[in-house]
Amino acid sequence: MDYIQEMFAERIGGSRFGMSDVIYKFEKIKRSKREAAELHPDMELIDLGVGQPDYMADGDVIRVLSEESAKWENRGYADNGIDEFKKAAAKYMDQVFGVKDIDYETETLHMIGSKAGLTILPQAFINPGDVTLITVPGYPVMGTITEWLGGEKYELPLKEEHDFYPDLDAIPENICKRAKLIYVNYPNNPTGQAATREFFEKLVAFAKKNHIIIVQDAAYAAICLDGQKPLSILSIDGAKDIAVEIHSLSKSYNMTGWRLGFAVGNAKIIAALATVKDNFDAGQFKPIQLAGSYALAHPELTEQMNTVYKRRQKLLCELLAEKGFCVTPSKGTFYLYVKAPTGMADGKTFATAEDFSQYMIREKMISVVPWDDAGHYVRFSLTFHAPTAEIEKEIMDEVRVRLADCEFVFEER
Ligand SMILES: Cc1ncc(COP(=O)(O)O)c(C=O)c1O
Repeated sequence: MDYIQEMFAERIGGSRFGMSDVIYKFEKIKRSKREAAELHPDMELIDLGVGQPDYMADGDVIRVLSEESAKWENRGYADNGIDEFKKAAAKYMDQVFGVKDIDYETETLHMIGSKAGLTILPQAFINPGDVTLITVPGYPVMGTITEWLGGEKYELPLKEEHDFYPDLDAIPENICKRAKLIYVNYPNNPTGQAATREFFEKLVAFAKKNHIIIVQDAAYAAICLDGQKPLSILSIDGAKDIAVEIHSLSKSYNMTGWRLGFAVGNAKIIAALATVKDNFDAGQFKPIQLAGSYALAHPELTEQMNTVYKRRQKLLCELLAEKGFCVTPSKGTFYLYVKAPTGMADGKTFATAEDFSQYMIREKMISVVPWDDAGHYVRFSLTFHAPTAEIEKEIMDEVRVRLADCEFVFEER
């Protein structure tokens, strides 16, 4: 007797769980890559779609992990974190962002990656009927968890005509009244836009006026490609009254699989997060926190990677411009976001960015990620696997060869 099917919670589809034939974007890309590899056995896939660094963590970070793992006192539960990491996080906020007044005990909290932080946050604030404002395209988890809690997400499109910032003035008053959280992410995945002080100031004023908590997803905060200094929302006057920033070591220290990040900001928000978190996990392995503390004390490691990404971005921008794409280099993150072509000179058409990405994977064995949420764009990642500068050039040359017969057309949609 199978009564399991009748028992699934509504939030994951209820009795229809596992039966939907909707294939989500990243699963579709995965399947297309598999099928394309069978169709083109002699061609290697060039993956310009990956969302994680191709380099390994720094050797000294790995050494600290190895040494600390051998110590008896580090074997146990870490619960809500060790002081060494909290202190390192507070110091990092000063050293990298000039945010000086962080009390490490009450205003920082380690996280098992920033994704964990973003899933925990709504559980501390959202009651049924409450609203989370969330930017699209973007990282969706806070919206999903809000809905699971009986709340609603309200999407704020990031459009080119607004420089990929949400149009705060366009949010209806009744939504502002019900909103408890606003999620932003700068530097932004996927648009590559970075925040300005003016935007953050406007956001803080909007949040205070409407009694909303700001969640600034700082997963790419130190990955600046335009020569500007990294910017924290906590450097804005009064932001700490109403904001929390979620940092991650995944992208800035090539530590995606290590699962380490931290929340920093308003002490009441941090206390609520700690209470929820304590019920969900038992803390990250102490040696990982110690290795992370070492990394945070060495922000030059991120700067070294930024040099690599800048070099790759230049190569990719040149190539895409040659093919007719309208390219604006990203200010931050390791993504480049460009308008998808509408078709090709031979008459082929791409109704969506997804159509274009499917063509690239199936016909050219080049993987890129489509975004059709606010306009039709594709995201190219600068994290394609290339251990040296020479290999970076070779990969770009191979892309050039594969696209040699493509004359893309870009029409107004
Ligand atoms: C915008 C954004 N936020 C958060 C995350 C989660 O990162 P992690 O959980 O590895 O810290 C990602 C990962 O891709 C991301 O792109």
